[in-house]
Amino acid sequence: MDRIGFALLAVIGLLAITVPLAVARSSSRVVGNPVTGKAIFIKKCAPCHTLKAAGAAGRVGPNLDRLKPSYAAVVTQVTTGGSGPPPGMKPTFMAGEFTAAQVRDIAAFVFISTHPRAR
Ligand code: HEC
Repeated sequence: MDRIGFALLAVIGLLAITVPLAVARSSSRVVGNPVTGKAIFIKKCAPCHTLKAAGAAGRVGPNLDRLKPSYAAVVTQVTTGGSGPPPGMKPTFMAGEFTAAQVRDIAAFVFISTHPRAR
């Protein structure tokens, strides 16, 4: 085999190793089903938050398209309920209301739709 052929094989081999690794890494960071998360978001979060991917234009909480929260920040917020709704506003969910799987679904949806490169 000539040197170019060998170099080509080496590159292909490297790609074969690193591409699946990268995919595995990003999917282990963002777990959850964004399709399910979107449905929950529209019901429970859209009244207060703007997020284009959900067609949401709420103005009570921060604009999530602009905030681009980390996956972990969404998990924390949805698990704890944050500082709660402003006075006089009925909460759409309570701390501890969502199952761990639902929390991951919501966080996956919010994270993926505000971090296009993670898609
Ligand atoms: C009743 C209005 C309301 C609803 C419903 C609501 N939020 Fe919020 N959200 C807020 C307000 C107000 C803040 C800012 C104060 C705070 O952090 O609690 C906020 C903050 C946040 C933040 C930013 C936290 C940070 O780290 O800065 C995230 C992320 C978030 N909400 C996600 C969600 C998700 C996901 C849902 C649906 C499960 C949701 N919110 C439902 C009002 C709401």
